[in-house]
Amino acid sequence: MMQGTENMGSMTSVAIEAETVETDSRETGESRVLQLQDQDEVRDYVTIGAPFVDNAKMAARNVNVHYGEKHAIMDVSLDIGKNEVIAMIGPSGCGKSTFLRTLNRMNDIIAGCRVDGEITLDGEDVYGRQQDTVMLRARVGMVFQKPNPFPKSIYENVAYGPRIHGLAHNKAELDEIVESSLRRASLFDEVKDNLDKPGTGLSGGQQQRLCIARAIAVSPEVILMDEPCSALDPIATARIEELIDELKEKYTIAIVTHSMQQAARVSQRTAYFHLGKLIEVGGTKDIFTRPRHQLTENYITGRFG
Ligand SMILES: Nc1ncnc2c1ncn2[C@@H]1O[C@H](COP(=O)(O)OP(=O)(O)OP(=O)(O)O)[C@@H](O)[C@H]1O
Ligand SMILES: [Mg+2]
Repeated sequence: MMQGTENMGSMTSVAIEAETVETDSRETGESRVLQLQDQDEVRDYVTIGAPFVDNAKMAARNVNVHYGEKHAIMDVSLDIGKNEVIAMIGPSGCGKSTFLRTLNRMNDIIAGCRVDGEITLDGEDVYGRQQDTVMLRARVGMVFQKPNPFPKSIYENVAYGPRIHGLAHNKAELDEIVESSLRRASLFDEVKDNLDKPGTGLSGGQQQRLCIARAIAVSPEVILMDEPCSALDPIATARIEELIDELKEKYTIAIVTHSMQQAARVSQRTAYFHLGKLIEVGGTKDIFTRPRHQLTENYITGRFG
């Protein structure tokens, strides 16, 4: 069933200023606030837009995720291009975090979670029997919603990964990795005199940059970020967004965000998820100004209640 194309909406030019639109729609009354549909109604939708790219760093094919009986991701196929920033958006509970976690097998540690389908990194099966998950998570690093530094010093937070992966041969090399990672995360100048102080003593925004430094210290190829700025103020958010822009020169980044402004600012491609389905993918500007699917349009214009 090709419901995707039947659901093309009117091509209103919307939403880099989506929050304004959202406020307006609330003010104009209840009637514009739609309810999410039944999951069975979206089950057979075919993703519209351009889920595949020529230079995929990671590729997901027909991925399904269940938590027990709950079907959280339904037949999702999507490429993540090399050195791109791809934003994943959609209503709460649509499976953004679940999908992100499939990419570095963080779902493995959730009891009752089952992943089917294929995910590759440079063409290599992420779920293959040979795959070493510790190695995989160094290649595909993750930054979470809530900054979660280890209860150790700032230095040790960053040095831990390189040490367990044997990336430094001596203390001088390790010092160098710690410093360059903190510099790339734009944190070094603020902490250079306090490297032995606990990471947990930093401000929220600094802690999140510390977590980014920790992730990049092991030279990952892909960085997954799950709402990395949701606990931060606008200034700290702006710092992280600048950082994402710099990091994309070297890394591939997939970021989940509830802020459409953030998606518009940092990403080149955007994927819209809805009730476990990948509804639409495309260039970020196109998704926000010319959404093709009615559900995408409803979301970016703030019409879901
Ligand atoms: N550990 C779990 N056990 C059981 N069900 C889960 C678990 N984690 C997520 N789910 C369910 O899977 C679905 C997708 O959840 P997920 O956390 O991926 O959504 P999300 O898009 O990241 O939402 P949010 O924007 O609120 O973070 C939801 O229905 C959720 O209740
Ligand atoms: Mg989530």
